[in-house]
Amino acid sequence: MIETTTETTTGPDVVELLIGQHMRIRDLFARVEESEGARRREAFADLVRMLAVHETAEELVVHPAARAAIEGGDDVVDDRLAEENHAKHLLKRLDDAGPDAPEFPDLLELLRVAVLDHASHEEQHEFRYLRRNLSPDRLAALAGAVRAAEKFAPTHPHPGAESATANLAAGPALAVFDRVKDAVRAAVGDSDR
Ligand SMILES: [Fe+2]
Ligand SMILES: [Fe+2]
Repeated sequence: MIETTTETTTGPDVVELLIGQHMRIRDLFARVEESEGARRREAFADLVRMLAVHETAEELVVHPAARAAIEGGDDVVDDRLAEENHAKHLLKRLDDAGPDAPEFPDLLELLRVAVLDHASHEEQHEFRYLRRNLSPDRLAALAGAVRAAEKFAPTHPHPGAESATANLAAGPALAVFDRVKDAVRAAVGDSDR
């Protein structure tokens, strides 16, 4: 974990937002692990959608900024993208097996370790340097783009609240990633790429 900033602007900066999403992802893994049956399917759909929103915002907004802003940025980002691809591959195996399969818990654990290691590498090798090297205005602009993507994230359990984005969570996990990516790309526009 890296230190939080002294507040100089209103609201969390982009790094705090992303670290907050990492914590939500960790909590969603725990929810999937702890639940069974319909609740596990629902929790898994939430996890897939949160991962899609988070990794897409990083891919479209955060990693491109990091390439330009940090020393050795291309290598750092290429390593992170390789980790994200590995996690997507594991996610597809998990999704193909399905939440009721006997191998689901072992595959879930593989994915959990891959995703949380990846998140920790981002925090250590990428986010801390973004915060160090970018101006407060630029960090705030990136935060705005991540917030635009976040409106597609699952909400806390709240009946009826998710109807607007529920269709984004239907179907195979990688199709969810594709739909979320289209929606996020439209929401953030091209200004921060
Ligand atoms: Fe990531
Ligand atoms: Fe991340």
